[in-house]
Amino acid sequence: MKKLDYSSLISKNAPLPIESPPGLSMDGSKKSKYIFSITYTNPHTFQKNKMSDALNTAINKEWNTLTKYPDIQGYPKLRNLISNNLQLYRKLTVNPELVFLSSGAGGAIKTILDTFIDSGDIVLVEEFTYLGTLNMLLAKGAKVIHIPTDQYGIETEKLENTLKDLKLKNTLPKLICTIPVYQNPMGITMSLGRKKSLIKLSEKYQIPIIENESYADFRIDGPNLPPTLMSLDTAGTVIYVSAYTKLLGCGLRLGYAVLPANMQNVLSRFDSGNSPSQLASILVYEFLKNYRNEHVVSTADSLKIKRDTMLKALEKYFPKTCSWSKPNGGMMIWLKLPSNANTWTALPHAIKNSVEYNPGPQFHAGKSGKNFLRLTYSYNSADEIQEGIKILSEVFDQEEMFK
Ligand SMILES: Cc1ncc(COP(=O)(O)O)c(C=O)c1O
Repeated sequence: MKKLDYSSLISKNAPLPIESPPGLSMDGSKKSKYIFSITYTNPHTFQKNKMSDALNTAINKEWNTLTKYPDIQGYPKLRNLISNNLQLYRKLTVNPELVFLSSGAGGAIKTILDTFIDSGDIVLVEEFTYLGTLNMLLAKGAKVIHIPTDQYGIETEKLENTLKDLKLKNTLPKLICTIPVYQNPMGITMSLGRKKSLIKLSEKYQIPIIENESYADFRIDGPNLPPTLMSLDTAGTVIYVSAYTKLLGCGLRLGYAVLPANMQNVLSRFDSGNSPSQLASILVYEFLKNYRNEHVVSTADSLKIKRDTMLKALEKYFPKTCSWSKPNGGMMIWLKLPSNANTWTALPHAIKNSVEYNPGPQFHAGKSGKNFLRLTYSYNSADEIQEGIKILSEVFDQEEMFK
């Protein structure tokens, strides 16, 4: 019997395919030993017993809510806790009615993009940006424009020039997507001055901002974080997104968005298909309520050791022709190799040696940045990080990428 050809049935609204680097597994399933390519939850600080307590409490106390469909915006107690914690730790005042829970930060971003972005819409992002959001935008046919970004974050003067140019052509971006804290992949935290300028521009040109603070709980050292964009916003242009994915478990995949009040009238247009599991929501609530602070501290302590080990190994094994970020938080280091290096084509050689990393072009709509790469340090132990960086330097040396 002739097999049905599903590819001939694909809807014209289905996402466009995205080119991904040869051999790289997006979920680490290839079982390489050294996974420097994914921001996994730190397995060395996973609180098995406390998670188990939280799960027990969740089922015993709330089993009845598990028999019903959840609240459309997600478990109300968790939304209240998120609102309290944002006030406590980010000095952001949030009405829990404006919080919606999602399947990871990615789920919240997808819901927002599905609501607002059409093929051909222009979206502004940092010079390099998180590949998940980038791929969602490209899959929707959005026109992504990268804005130059320095150590203070997105360069707002250049962003304004882009806005002026676009306005002259009678168009404007639909959205600005930014990761102002421990930016993925560049590791930068946007300064308060830049934040104020960005807010001014978004208000002047009436362009919403997605503020993605997925890494705000991962401060290792350095200055305290500047206030959120959302707390500086008076025109309701900022949509705040974050998650507990990296803190508590990628497998739990619990994220959320906080909407500005003037967006409430479009809530009914949201696709609720990205809602998280109610069990995961209750478990996360019980865990955060009892153990959040100690867990944040132990995670930061462990990440400090891993980050420092990776930085030291890079110092030891990588030549002076390379440079890299020294992040104060988050889970990744952004490296620049000499301009002839090609991190995309060298990747299969690294994977053969059990090392996975992200080539720079993964973070750019135009696939620029072939002499850049991102290394994450949350998954492997300090000893493994040291070994993996040594192997990677040998691979790059054989590929003649250091000249
Ligand atoms: C900046 C940023 N946003 C969103 C995500 C996706 O997170 P989640 O797994 O919570 O959907 C990631 C994951 O790496 C990320 O780095």
